[in-house]
Amino acid sequence: MKKVVILYWAKGGNAEKAANVVYAKLGSEVADIFDLESFDMDQLLQYKLALLGGSTVGADKWEDATNDNMWNRFFRTIENRDLSEMTFAAFGLGNQLLYPDNFVDALGIFHDEIAKTNARIIGRWPVTGYRFTNSEGAQKDEFYGLALDEDTEPELTEDRVTRWLAQIQKEIEL
Ligand SMILES: Cc1cc2nc3c(=O)[nH]c(=O)nc-3n(C[C@H](O)[C@H](O)[C@H](O)COP(=O)(O)O)c2cc1C
Repeated sequence: MKKVVILYWAKGGNAEKAANVVYAKLGSEVADIFDLESFDMDQLLQYKLALLGGSTVGADKWEDATNDNMWNRFFRTIENRDLSEMTFAAFGLGNQLLYPDNFVDALGIFHDEIAKTNARIIGRWPVTGYRFTNSEGAQKDEFYGLALDEDTEPELTEDRVTRWLAQIQKEIEL
């Protein structure tokens, strides 16, 4: 039975913290976890589901992002592969009070990049309960993945992850 891989970037911050919450809930029999830099991309197809976790830190496009954006490298690698056997879902960190016009924008970038492959994308999440005015990470009343706000609502992360994983489990057998 193929496993789930949790891939996150950057290291040492809230994306890593959230990735560890996801990992703790899935358990080591179901999931493996790597920061992007430590992950051997040749292993990707060994997994049935990849859960991608990252934060929004301002760059409009990954190509514009400076200092070796690991997500840019990741997406440049997968865009040439046939990933039709795989499924992806994403969780994104943001701050809805400081960045209400760009809350979790990165979820939109993740979605657009994954959509360039033939992979299946799951894990949309309702915008209900969040306070923001605009987001590239949302379409109508749903985010493209799980939105987490460790800066202003850290107490909600555990429960959001639990409910998101329960929803994912309905979309794919874990
Ligand atoms: C320079 C900078 C820009 C940010 N821009 C956004 C943004 O546009 N939208 C958003 O929702 N959060 C934004 N944030 C908030 C981060 O996404 C949030 O603090 C996140 O938890 C950081 O995760 P990390 O520690 O893994 O990087 C920004 C944070 C920084 C430091």
